[in-house]
Amino acid sequence: MTEALREQVAAQLRRARDRSVGLTDAVDDDDLVRQHSRLMSPLVWDLAHIGNQEELWLVRDVGGREPVRSDIDELYDAFQHPRADRPRLPLLSPAESRGYVRVVRDKVLDVLERVPLEGRRLVDNGFAFGMIAQHEQQHDETMLATHQLRVGPPVLSAPPPPAAAGAPARSEVLVPGGTFTMGTSTEPWALDNERPAHEVHVDPYFIDTAPVTNAGYAAFIADGGYDDPRWWSEAGWAYRKHADLTAPRFWQRDGDGWLRTRFGVVEPIRPDEPVVHVCQYEASAYAAWAGKRLPTEAEWEMAARFDPATGRSRRFPWGDEDPGPEHANLGQRHLHPAPVGAYPAGASPLGVHQLIGDVWEWTSTDFTGYPGFVAFPYREYSEVFFGSEYKVLRGGSFGTDPVACRGTFRNWDYPIRRQIFAGFRCARDAAPDEAG
Ligand code: AVJ
Ligand code: FE
Repeated sequence: MTEALREQVAAQLRRARDRSVGLTDAVDDDDLVRQHSRLMSPLVWDLAHIGNQEELWLVRDVGGREPVRSDIDELYDAFQHPRADRPRLPLLSPAESRGYVRVVRDKVLDVLERVPLEGRRLVDNGFAFGMIAQHEQQHDETMLATHQLRVGPPVLSAPPPPAAAGAPARSEVLVPGGTFTMGTSTEPWALDNERPAHEVHVDPYFIDTAPVTNAGYAAFIADGGYDDPRWWSEAGWAYRKHADLTAPRFWQRDGDGWLRTRFGVVEPIRPDEPVVHVCQYEASAYAAWAGKRLPTEAEWEMAARFDPATGRSRRFPWGDEDPGPEHANLGQRHLHPAPVGAYPAGASPLGVHQLIGDVWEWTSTDFTGYPGFVAFPYREYSEVFFGSEYKVLRGGSFGTDPVACRGTFRNWDYPIRRQIFAGFRCARDAAPDEAG
């Protein structure tokens, strides 16, 4: 591994740690050990789990070093204890957790300087280090969702995202369809479920140029969308009844309008911002009401990556450069989605905006492996979740770090989940006479 790559790895590890420290130092010890929602771990569990994964992969496996704390592996194994049970475990205290992640990190920086990093797939191009940086950032986004569920005065702050430069010219665009390359075999830090690159045929379709906004979603509510089973799938309607859904999570009525609670701030919803905190059932009900549907995962990726001029798939909608602040609302630089039209520099060649950043976008697709999928380096990252229970989300949110967000990156969750930073955009079939 070259010096430049070592420095890049160290910088990504540092950035992730700065974020973890910020999210955990923002609250007191009581708050760190408390469970803010049965859906989430105590923040102190996430912190020590971050350190434990880093120890397992980089200290013990890559580094070949002695364990730092082999006695705690079981406590921080996500498969041993469901989130709801974690507060009752004999977890490391906040001070012990902070000390633990520091000791692990010091060893990892030593490993990074010394270990020969060629000739082993786990470390080629710094993969294991990149995987661990992404893992920490993924838990940081989870901790951010815990902050959103936390009750009390605000403790996080950030400047507002940019204003819209102007709404996208059209509300939807025709994607001519055809064959495109989905997934990747070359992106060095892509995770196993993004691999391998493969050709996929997609029929012509229309896709919205922007995510569905709060104003659009409020119109669905005002039109009685939550009370009309015509728009809901059978499972969606059953869940809507069972959970008594009436609006996105964190919304409350305010006369004729809506307020939302966002990281402890109660404020009017912003009409031109992408809606967030809806489950996949709500998203597909809205789409049906609008005469559309959710995109498939392949449709989403084709819209995000296919360059009609060259026929090749780009890394991102705007090209091959890594995301910068001009392209997308990523990395917790802001604490809410940006209005539609705020990132013209991030649009795709066909004029589809904000595919990356702002809100995760629900698709209609089950989470499964691509043809030729091989679990790497552990089955528990992706493979054990394959099947029809989990639905794919794409594109990342304002709380997703760029290191854990690519045109090929795949997220997944149960279709009932609403605490994640998820919204959606709509698509529809192109009739033969519209298909160009
Ligand atoms: C990819 C976000 C679904 O948080 O469950 C964290 C990421 N995997 N630790 C999750 C993950 C192991 C994962 N998601
Ligand atoms: Fe994890």
